[in-house]
Amino acid sequence: MKKKLIAGNWKMNGSLSSNEVLIKQLLLGLSTPNCDVAVCVPSVFLGQAQALIQSSRLDLGAQDVSMYESGAFTGEVSPAMLKDFGVRYCIVGHSERRQYHFETDAQVAAKARSALAHGITPIVCVGETLAEREVGKTEEVVKRQLAAVIHINGHCISEIVVAYEPIWAIGTGVTASTGQAQQVHAVLRAQLKAATPHADQIRLLYGGSMNAANAGQLLAQPDIDGGLVGGASLKAQDFLSIIAAAH
Ligand code: PGA
Repeated sequence: MKKKLIAGNWKMNGSLSSNEVLIKQLLLGLSTPNCDVAVCVPSVFLGQAQALIQSSRLDLGAQDVSMYESGAFTGEVSPAMLKDFGVRYCIVGHSERRQYHFETDAQVAAKARSALAHGITPIVCVGETLAEREVGKTEEVVKRQLAAVIHINGHCISEIVVAYEPIWAIGTGVTASTGQAQQVHAVLRAQLKAATPHADQIRLLYGGSMNAANAGQLLAQPDIDGGLVGGASLKAQDFLSIIAAAH
């Protein structure tokens, strides 16, 4: 049976001192989680996080990866560099990257391929804006975003993780209802089923104001296999409560 995955997305937060406190608190509270757990940290902190979590139940994640292997791409971090630091997961296509860095569906798909080529599991984010939801375009948007990834990664699509993150729920305190989230997850599952016989093994995470209070209900939905957690992953007790709700 596939294990659920709870991944923390620290975004652009943290410092050497606060990271150490947070990771140590997580390690103390983790003992034997029933699910996989990862923290996706800013790339400058990968070395620190790797040293703190080594041989623990916590996996290391990054928040972005270059679609290129190496060379004249100032500011970029390659998949081989991430691998060097023991990175297991990498978020690609987060809505903040799509919105503020104008990443296209094709670039997100190329980043997923780049990660996969180095044995890193991409956590591919998809999600609609409030305006798109209000005009009934949610399915169309998430299917278009996922289709681009399936298109160039079809042969190894069963190795990805997908995170459905409605943009209107990210960092807003407004969570998608369990019904809304499950409905989109079912659409994504059906799309993956058309692409691979192993679609049931692919973990579909929900993200968007997941917290200690709502995690249990969301994670009980049949097609919700974990969470991508922003704000609540920065507080050890909150993140540990979400992890405890995943089994
Ligand atoms: P949030 O962020 O939990 O703070 O809403 C989730 C995310 O953006 O991955």
